[in-house]
Amino acid sequence: MININKLEKGGLSGKPLENKSNITINKFYKNLKNKIKIIGVGGVDSGKSAYEKILNGASLIQLYTGMVYQGPNISNKINEELIVILKKEGFENISEAIGVKN
Ligand SMILES: Cc1cc2nc3c(=O)[nH]c(=O)nc-3n(C[C@H](O)[C@H](O)[C@H](O)COP(=O)(O)O)c2cc1C
Repeated sequence: MININKLEKGGLSGKPLENKSNITINKFYKNLKNKIKIIGVGGVDSGKSAYEKILNGASLIQLYTGMVYQGPNISNKINEELIVILKKEGFENISEAIGVKN
């Protein structure tokens, strides 16, 4: 079946990418065995969505669409939400959470 969205100019961004990106990060993390750091990107707009990428193996987070909708302060919001999540889940340091979902 042809998806007409594929015929549009430009790239796909935001939430439609999130799950596919998380699966890809997970696969790369397994294969790279921490030899190369992964920058997680695709649909990050909250601490929870950043946390999912970290659990799958991202050491860094990149975002674009989230900032378009929420403005540049989104990075502060994400950091604050991430701290709450990490504490709640019992992590003392963010690095302990990288790749836990593997
Ligand atoms: C308007 C726009 C411009 C972008 N320009 C670039 C670019 O110049 N170089 C690049 O590597 N990625 C670029 N991207 C891709 C984003 O950095 C990012 O990889 C992608 O949008 C998925 O993340 P997101 O869901 O947070 O937007 C651009 C994305 C958008 C929406």
